[in-house]
Amino acid sequence: MKTHDQNSREKTINIATPIATLREAQERARSLVPPQAWDWLEGGTEREWTLAANSAAYGRYYLKQRILRDVTNVKTGARFLGKQLPMPLIGAPLGGMTQYHQDGEIALVQGGHAASTIMSISAMSRLRIEEIRDAAPKAAMIYQVYFQGPDSWLEDEVARAKAANVKALCLCGDAPVRTIRYRDRENRYDARKFGHRTNAPPPNHALGARATWDYVAWFKQKIDVPVIVKGIVCAEDAALAMEHGADILWVSNHGGRALDSGIASLDVLPEIRAAVGKKATIVFDGGIRTGSDVLKALALGADIVAIGRPVVYGLAVDGVVGVERIFELFAEEFHSAMAMCGISSLDEIRPDILRVRPGAETLLNLLR
Ligand SMILES: Cc1cc2nc3c(=O)[nH]c(=O)nc-3n(C[C@H](O)[C@H](O)[C@H](O)COP(=O)(O)O)c2cc1C
Repeated sequence: MKTHDQNSREKTINIATPIATLREAQERARSLVPPQAWDWLEGGTEREWTLAANSAAYGRYYLKQRILRDVTNVKTGARFLGKQLPMPLIGAPLGGMTQYHQDGEIALVQGGHAASTIMSISAMSRLRIEEIRDAAPKAAMIYQVYFQGPDSWLEDEVARAKAANVKALCLCGDAPVRTIRYRDRENRYDARKFGHRTNAPPPNHALGARATWDYVAWFKQKIDVPVIVKGIVCAEDAALAMEHGADILWVSNHGGRALDSGIASLDVLPEIRAAVGKKATIVFDGGIRTGSDVLKALALGADIVAIGRPVVYGLAVDGVVGVERIFELFAEEFHSAMAMCGISSLDEIRPDILRVRPGAETLLNLLR
């Protein structure tokens, strides 16, 4: 964790050099964060195949540029959970954030609020939701619960989320047991011991394994905000989520941090959209790093896209201002990508704005 002095020095530097690109934010964050904490952030499970697949999936699609279409008024705004967003982009739940900035999750939520978007707070947040709410009284937040405690603890979690006036409750289903991350094992790094905390960790990790679909109804009885199920990576579970009354589906493989050898989240998105139909609301995350990635995910079936690691780069470099800047960069790029594709509204984002690379044989056959 940075000392107070380091923070003020960094802030002075940043006035002259605001973050130019996400790539730059990542490099600057890497130079500021201790190597083991950096590995905890960037890493995935085992050989990190799923982590790599998440990013590589975007390279399989081209965007179709369309020209001479008057793109003076490109409208990127979207509505989600009753809030108007500058674009369909929100923050994913992230635990352990005081490892990256002394204000951790508070700075994340304040930065997201400054960018007029919605941030998610994890049950693994290092700072208590009550403190976060006090520091950002008007911010729109989703609360993400884990199952790693008895039902009485879950009830308390819901009560606290309710009191903090969250916009939705998100059940994270893809982490029933601990994952095995080689980087952390080899670094002998136990993230729980780094970065300060005011929020107690979930009391019993072993209880995470008991989660079932029945909990969707259980949570719905206890709170009257939409219930989201996060961690859906196949059509069968998407259908089960709908059957059990989930209000929103969150397609995600936990950024490659849950099961390794799982499918890239982008690759399963069309299958899930096809399974649940047009009416279901789908949030999507995994490997989103540019405005054009957002466009591709929307074309493949997402309604709302979320980012995880990118906001942490902004947080580590420049706290609240850095987080806001990351969302701003995405908004600029998304606007640019839409305009280049000749698209002026989100309704026009359909699969036909994408192209896949034709095989060489197909191309030659066109000329034979
Ligand atoms: C450092 C870190 C901590 C995370 N903590 C949580 C968490 O507490 N709960 C959760 O549901 N997902 C957690 N995730 C997963 C994110 O919510 C999200 O699914 C993932 O980061 C998206 O991929 P991206 O980082 O490529 O954007 C975490 C991810 C990272 C990188």
